[in-house]
Amino acid sequence: MAKITKAVIPAAGLGTRFLPATKAVPKEMIPIVDRPTIQYIIEEAAQAGITDLLIITSRTKKAIEDHFDKSYELETELEKSGKTALLEEMKQIRSMMNIQYVRQAEPKGLGHAIYCAKSFVGNEPFAVLLGDDVVYSQKPCLLQMIEKFEEYQASILGVQSVAQSEVSKYGIVSGEQVSDRMWRVHDMVEKPKQEEAPTNVAVLGRYIIMPEIFEHLEKTKPGAGGEIQLTDALKTLAKEQEMYAYDFVGRRYDVGNKMGFLEATVEYALRREDLSEDFIKYLKQLVNR
Ligand code: UTP
Repeated sequence: MAKITKAVIPAAGLGTRFLPATKAVPKEMIPIVDRPTIQYIIEEAAQAGITDLLIITSRTKKAIEDHFDKSYELETELEKSGKTALLEEMKQIRSMMNIQYVRQAEPKGLGHAIYCAKSFVGNEPFAVLLGDDVVYSQKPCLLQMIEKFEEYQASILGVQSVAQSEVSKYGIVSGEQVSDRMWRVHDMVEKPKQEEAPTNVAVLGRYIIMPEIFEHLEKTKPGAGGEIQLTDALKTLAKEQEMYAYDFVGRRYDVGNKMGFLEATVEYALRREDLSEDFIKYLKQLVNR
């Protein structure tokens, strides 16, 4: 039985929804409390058993590589000053898994970014995690999806229902329900107009994809927004082989958008033992002012 050990994080987008912060700082490096968003995503992948990761980067994303590399100066200083807990944390960040990088020369779309992973992936099913979507759940979102993959042996899209007014921001799927939280996908459309969306079931930044996707990506022409869309390639793959949508359990934050980022910041801070007590006090004072 195929096992999922490889994952791809496309991180070469321009992050225009978060300008000016993303002009010089990669959107994936913007922190939620004290960790860059991408670190939460990689921790989720590690907890799901991923051992090999490819990050699709671009010219302006060097800070991502630095974050997961060894910092000799910092580690030497922490060692000298006896800050062992911090030192261990720094070592742990860079030893979560094997990480490779490839550059997407131009931001031609998510589908094009995934195509850059072709030789890394080879002929195995693989996971895709988008840095925009952070999911808080008891069982890591990707692990839930891998368990579904083990059962169905087919591509699995992580979905949740969104407000009807939000459908035009997402890839939307339609299909038939086959069991609790599982749908067989019949069709997909990228960023439909509200009145044209077949459902309000949106793909939210987590995928397990069969390797045949690359044959479809090769043939995919630019779609919505003039970009090569992963949704368009998945749509044609779904005509050829079974594909499922799984309504994952968890609170998902769209951190690529300002409001989602603020919600994540507040809620993650409230979950932190070292911060929550003081933070709750502060929030209470603020609303009672
Ligand atoms: P988004 O469209 O949400 O990201 O793409 P973006 O382009 O960075 O953001 P905005 O809309 O301009 O604010 C979804 C994911 O696909 C990656 C992005 O980095 C993001 O994780 N992506 C997108 C690429 O890697 N390359 C691309 O050409 C486009």
